Amino acid sequence: MRRWRTLLAAVFTVASMGVLVAPSPAVADGPVVTPYVVGGTRAALGEFPWMVRLSMGCGGALYSPTLVLTAAHCVSRTGTNTSITATLGVVDLQSSSRITRRSNYVYRAPGYNGNGDDWAFIRLSSAVTGVATLPITTSTANDSGTFTVAGWGANREGGAQQRYLLKANVPFVSDATCNSSSMYGGEVIAAEEICAGYTAGGVDTCQGDSGGPMFRRDASNAWIQVGIVSWGDGCARPNKPGVYTQVSYFSSAIRSAASSLGG
Ligand code: ARG
Repeated sequence: MRRWRTLLAAVFTVASMGVLVAPSPAVADGPVVTPYVVGGTRAALGEFPWMVRLSMGCGGALYSPTLVLTAAHCVSRTGTNTSITATLGVVDLQSSSRITRRSNYVYRAPGYNGNGDDWAFIRLSSAVTGVATLPITTSTANDSGTFTVAGWGANREGGAQQRYLLKANVPFVSDATCNSSSMYGGEVIAAEEICAGYTAGGVDTCQGDSGGPMFRRDASNAWIQVGIVSWGDGCARPNKPGVYTQVSYFSSAIRSAASSLGG
Protein backbone atom coordinates (compact mmCIF):
# COMPACT_ATOMS: atom_id res chain seq x y z
CA MET A 1 0.00 0.00 0.00
CA ARG A 2 2.77 2.33 0.94
CA ARG A 3 4.78 1.41 -2.08
CA TRP A 4 1.76 2.05 -4.26
CA ARG A 5 1.30 5.48 -2.79
CA THR A 6 4.88 6.54 -3.36
CA LEU A 7 4.84 5.33 -6.93
CA LEU A 8 2.11 7.79 -7.78
CA ALA A 9 4.69 10.48 -8.42
CA ALA A 10 5.76 8.93 -11.67
CA VAL A 11 2.22 9.08 -13.00
CA PHE A 12 2.22 12.86 -13.07
CA THR A 13 4.16 13.92 -16.11
CA VAL A 14 5.06 17.15 -17.82
CA ALA A 15 1.78 16.98 -19.66
CA SER A 16 -0.07 17.89 -16.50
CA MET A 17 2.21 20.74 -15.53
CA GLY A 18 1.00 24.23 -16.17
CA VAL A 19 -2.62 23.57 -15.46
CA LEU A 20 -4.03 25.99 -12.95
CA VAL A 21 -7.01 24.59 -11.17
CA ALA A 22 -9.59 27.08 -10.01
CA PRO A 23 -9.72 27.41 -6.22
CA SER A 24 -12.36 25.21 -4.67
CA PRO A 25 -12.97 23.98 -1.14
CA ALA A 26 -10.13 21.60 -0.28
CA VAL A 27 -11.00 19.42 2.65
CA ALA A 28 -14.01 19.72 4.86
CA ASP A 29 -12.06 19.23 8.08
CA GLY A 30 -9.10 21.50 7.38
CA PRO A 31 -8.26 24.47 9.58
CA VAL A 32 -7.79 26.78 6.58
CA VAL A 33 -9.55 26.10 3.32
CA THR A 34 -7.42 27.79 0.70
CA PRO A 35 -6.55 24.96 -1.65
CA TYR A 36 -2.88 25.48 -2.48
CA VAL A 37 -0.17 22.63 -2.05
CA VAL A 38 -3.11 21.48 -0.04
CA GLY A 39 -4.26 24.29 2.20
CA GLY A 40 -1.48 26.70 1.28
CA THR A 41 -0.93 29.88 -0.72
CA ARG A 42 1.18 31.00 -3.66
CA ALA A 43 4.88 31.50 -3.06
CA ALA A 44 6.45 34.78 -4.16
CA LEU A 45 9.15 34.92 -6.81
CA GLY A 46 12.48 34.50 -5.04
CA GLU A 47 10.97 33.41 -1.74
CA PHE A 48 12.26 29.83 -2.02
CA PRO A 49 14.83 30.14 -4.83
CA TRP A 50 16.13 26.58 -4.41
CA MET A 51 12.83 24.97 -5.41
CA VAL A 52 13.13 22.68 -8.44
CA ARG A 53 10.46 21.03 -10.57
CA LEU A 54 11.49 17.75 -12.16
CA SER A 55 10.04 16.49 -15.42
CA MET A 56 8.94 13.11 -14.05
CA GLY A 57 6.48 15.02 -11.87
CA CYS A 58 8.44 15.51 -8.66
CA GLY A 59 9.98 18.35 -6.71
CA GLY A 60 13.53 18.82 -5.54
CA ALA A 61 15.85 21.28 -3.84
CA LEU A 62 19.00 22.79 -5.29
CA TYR A 63 21.74 21.43 -3.02
CA SER A 64 24.68 22.79 -5.02
CA PRO A 65 25.04 24.41 -8.46
CA THR A 66 24.92 20.97 -10.10
CA LEU A 67 22.98 18.78 -7.65
CA VAL A 68 19.26 18.50 -6.94
CA LEU A 69 18.24 16.59 -3.82
CA THR A 70 14.99 14.67 -4.35
CA ALA A 71 13.28 11.43 -3.31
CA ALA A 72 14.53 7.96 -4.26
CA HIS A 73 10.99 7.02 -5.28
CA CYS A 74 11.12 9.72 -7.96
CA VAL A 75 13.99 8.07 -9.85
CA SER A 76 14.65 4.61 -11.25
CA ARG A 77 18.24 3.72 -10.42
CA THR A 78 21.77 4.95 -9.98
CA GLY A 79 23.59 5.60 -13.24
CA THR A 80 23.88 7.81 -16.27
CA ASN A 81 20.55 9.46 -17.00
CA THR A 82 19.97 12.26 -19.47
CA SER A 83 16.19 12.01 -19.49
CA ILE A 84 15.24 14.36 -16.65
CA THR A 85 14.65 18.08 -17.10
CA ALA A 86 14.92 20.32 -14.06
CA THR A 87 13.09 23.66 -14.11
CA LEU A 88 13.96 26.31 -11.55
CA GLY A 89 14.39 30.00 -10.82
CA VAL A 90 10.68 30.74 -11.18
CA VAL A 91 7.37 30.22 -9.44
CA ASP A 92 5.50 30.06 -12.78
CA LEU A 93 6.65 26.97 -14.67
CA GLN A 94 5.58 28.66 -17.92
CA SER A 95 7.64 31.79 -17.28
CA SER A 96 10.01 32.73 -20.09
CA SER A 97 12.65 33.46 -17.44
CA ARG A 98 12.69 29.89 -16.19
CA ILE A 99 16.01 28.09 -16.01
CA THR A 100 16.14 24.55 -17.34
CA ARG A 101 18.87 21.93 -17.13
CA ARG A 102 19.10 18.37 -18.33
CA SER A 103 20.27 15.64 -15.96
CA ASN A 104 23.43 13.71 -16.66
CA TYR A 105 23.46 11.30 -13.71
CA VAL A 106 21.15 9.94 -11.02
CA TYR A 107 22.31 8.69 -7.64
CA ARG A 108 19.65 6.77 -5.71
CA ALA A 109 20.16 6.07 -2.01
CA PRO A 110 21.99 2.78 -1.68
CA GLY A 111 19.72 0.05 -0.37
CA TYR A 112 16.51 1.82 -1.41
CA ASN A 113 13.76 -0.78 -1.78
CA GLY A 114 10.59 1.29 -1.49
CA ASN A 115 10.66 1.47 2.27
CA GLY A 116 12.79 4.18 3.89
CA ASP A 117 16.05 5.52 2.38
CA ASP A 118 13.90 7.85 0.30
CA TRP A 119 16.50 10.27 -1.04
CA ALA A 120 18.40 10.71 -4.30
CA PHE A 121 20.54 13.19 -6.20
CA ILE A 122 20.06 14.32 -9.76
CA ARG A 123 23.19 15.82 -11.28
CA LEU A 124 22.66 18.60 -13.78
CA SER A 125 24.56 18.76 -17.05
CA SER A 126 25.82 22.25 -16.25
CA ALA A 127 25.94 24.43 -13.15
CA VAL A 128 23.14 26.79 -12.25
CA THR A 129 24.59 30.13 -11.21
CA GLY A 130 22.94 32.93 -9.31
CA VAL A 131 20.35 30.73 -7.59
CA ALA A 132 20.58 30.19 -3.84
CA THR A 133 20.98 26.62 -2.65
CA LEU A 134 19.29 25.04 0.38
CA PRO A 135 21.69 23.57 2.94
CA ILE A 136 20.69 20.38 4.72
CA THR A 137 20.48 20.06 8.48
CA THR A 138 23.28 17.96 9.94
CA SER A 139 21.84 17.59 13.42
CA THR A 140 18.50 16.72 14.92
CA ALA A 141 18.32 20.18 16.49
CA ASN A 142 16.00 21.38 13.71
CA ASP A 143 13.76 18.30 13.72
CA SER A 144 10.85 19.98 15.48
CA GLY A 145 8.82 23.16 15.37
CA THR A 146 7.01 24.52 12.36
CA PHE A 147 8.14 23.59 8.88
CA THR A 148 7.53 25.08 5.47
CA VAL A 149 6.74 22.90 2.46
CA ALA A 150 6.40 23.97 -1.17
CA GLY A 151 5.75 22.39 -4.53
CA TRP A 152 3.89 22.27 -7.82
CA GLY A 153 1.98 19.13 -6.87
CA ALA A 154 -1.75 18.64 -6.51
CA ASN A 155 -3.68 21.19 -4.47
CA ARG A 156 -6.12 18.57 -3.25
CA GLU A 157 -6.16 14.79 -3.14
CA GLY A 158 -6.67 13.61 -6.71
CA GLY A 159 -6.23 17.15 -8.04
CA ALA A 160 -4.15 18.50 -10.90
CA GLN A 161 -0.51 19.52 -10.87
CA GLN A 162 0.01 23.25 -10.45
CA ARG A 163 1.52 25.89 -12.69
CA TYR A 164 2.45 28.20 -9.80
CA LEU A 165 4.53 27.21 -6.79
CA LEU A 166 2.44 26.75 -3.65
CA LYS A 167 3.63 26.84 -0.04
CA ALA A 168 2.28 25.99 3.39
CA ASN A 169 3.41 25.64 6.98
CA VAL A 170 2.96 22.39 8.86
CA PRO A 171 3.76 21.54 12.49
CA PHE A 172 6.07 18.71 13.58
CA VAL A 173 4.35 15.50 14.68
CA SER A 174 6.35 13.22 16.99
CA ASP A 175 7.16 9.65 15.97
CA ALA A 176 5.09 8.37 18.89
CA THR A 177 2.02 10.31 17.77
CA CYS A 178 2.56 9.59 14.08
CA ASN A 179 2.92 5.87 14.73
CA SER A 180 -0.02 5.69 17.11
CA SER A 181 -2.97 3.52 16.15
CA SER A 182 -5.08 6.54 15.18
CA MET A 183 -2.41 7.65 12.68
CA TYR A 184 0.03 5.29 10.95
CA GLY A 185 0.00 2.43 13.45
CA GLY A 186 3.69 1.59 13.20
CA GLU A 187 4.15 2.17 9.46
CA VAL A 188 6.54 5.08 9.97
CA ILE A 189 10.25 4.25 10.22
CA ALA A 190 10.94 6.41 13.26
CA ALA A 191 14.68 6.87 12.77
CA GLU A 192 14.47 7.65 9.06
CA GLU A 193 11.21 9.55 8.72
CA ILE A 194 9.69 12.67 10.23
CA CYS A 195 5.99 13.52 10.21
CA ALA A 196 4.36 16.93 9.87
CA GLY A 197 0.78 18.11 9.62
CA TYR A 198 -2.36 18.91 11.57
CA THR A 199 -4.40 16.29 13.39
CA ALA A 200 -7.44 17.89 11.78
CA GLY A 201 -5.88 17.63 8.32
CA GLY A 202 -6.38 20.36 5.74
CA VAL A 203 -2.75 21.32 5.07
CA ASP A 204 -0.29 18.93 3.45
CA THR A 205 1.94 18.10 0.55
CA CYS A 206 0.35 15.90 -2.11
CA GLN A 207 1.09 13.92 -5.27
CA GLY A 208 3.73 15.66 -7.35
CA ASP A 209 5.32 17.37 -4.34
CA SER A 210 7.40 14.27 -3.71
CA GLY A 211 11.11 14.88 -3.60
CA GLY A 212 10.63 18.52 -2.67
CA PRO A 213 12.07 19.92 0.53
CA MET A 214 10.55 20.53 3.93
CA PHE A 215 12.52 23.31 5.60
CA ARG A 216 12.65 25.76 8.49
CA ARG A 217 14.89 28.48 9.85
CA ASP A 218 17.77 27.32 12.02
CA ALA A 219 19.16 28.99 15.16
CA SER A 220 20.93 31.55 12.93
CA ASN A 221 17.70 32.31 11.08
CA ALA A 222 18.96 30.62 7.91
CA TRP A 223 16.71 28.28 5.90
CA ILE A 224 17.71 24.66 6.33
CA GLN A 225 16.30 21.46 4.85
CA VAL A 226 14.95 18.96 7.39
CA GLY A 227 12.78 16.74 5.19
CA ILE A 228 12.07 15.37 1.71
CA VAL A 229 8.44 14.83 0.68
CA SER A 230 7.98 11.06 0.74
CA TRP A 231 4.49 9.69 1.38
CA GLY A 232 1.16 9.94 3.15
CA ASP A 233 -2.25 8.33 3.19
CA GLY A 234 -4.12 10.47 0.71
CA CYS A 235 -3.50 14.18 1.19
CA ALA A 236 -4.45 16.43 4.09
CA ARG A 237 -6.73 13.83 5.65
CA PRO A 238 -7.41 14.07 9.38
CA ASN A 239 -4.96 11.95 11.42
CA LYS A 240 -2.78 11.37 8.35
CA PRO A 241 0.17 13.77 8.49
CA GLY A 242 2.69 13.93 5.67
CA VAL A 243 5.70 11.64 6.08
CA TYR A 244 9.09 13.05 5.10
CA THR A 245 12.58 11.58 4.82
CA GLN A 246 14.43 12.71 7.95
CA VAL A 247 17.40 14.51 6.43
CA SER A 248 19.36 14.68 9.71
CA TYR A 249 19.53 10.88 9.80
CA PHE A 250 21.02 10.73 6.30
CA SER A 251 23.10 13.89 6.36
CA SER A 252 26.49 12.14 6.37
CA ALA A 253 25.47 9.83 3.55
CA ILE A 254 24.02 12.74 1.59
CA ARG A 255 27.18 14.80 2.01
CA SER A 256 29.50 12.01 0.96
CA ALA A 257 27.31 11.19 -2.03
CA ALA A 258 27.44 14.85 -3.03
CA SER A 259 31.22 14.94 -2.90
CA SER A 260 31.47 11.70 -4.86
CA LEU A 261 29.27 13.33 -7.52
CA GLY A 262 31.62 16.29 -7.69
CA GLY A 263 29.58 18.88 -6.00
N1 ARG B 1 4.34 10.26 -2.81
C1 ARG B 1 3.76 11.51 -3.20
C2 ARG B 1 4.33 11.95 -4.51
O1 ARG B 1 4.64 11.07 -5.21
C3 ARG B 1 3.87 12.55 -2.14
C4 ARG B 1 2.92 12.23 -1.11
C5 ARG B 1 2.93 13.18 -0.03
N2 ARG B 1 1.69 12.94 0.61
C6 ARG B 1 1.27 13.55 1.69
N3 ARG B 1 0.08 13.29 2.12
N4 ARG B 1 2.04 14.41 2.32
O2 ARG B 1 4.32 13.06 -4.94
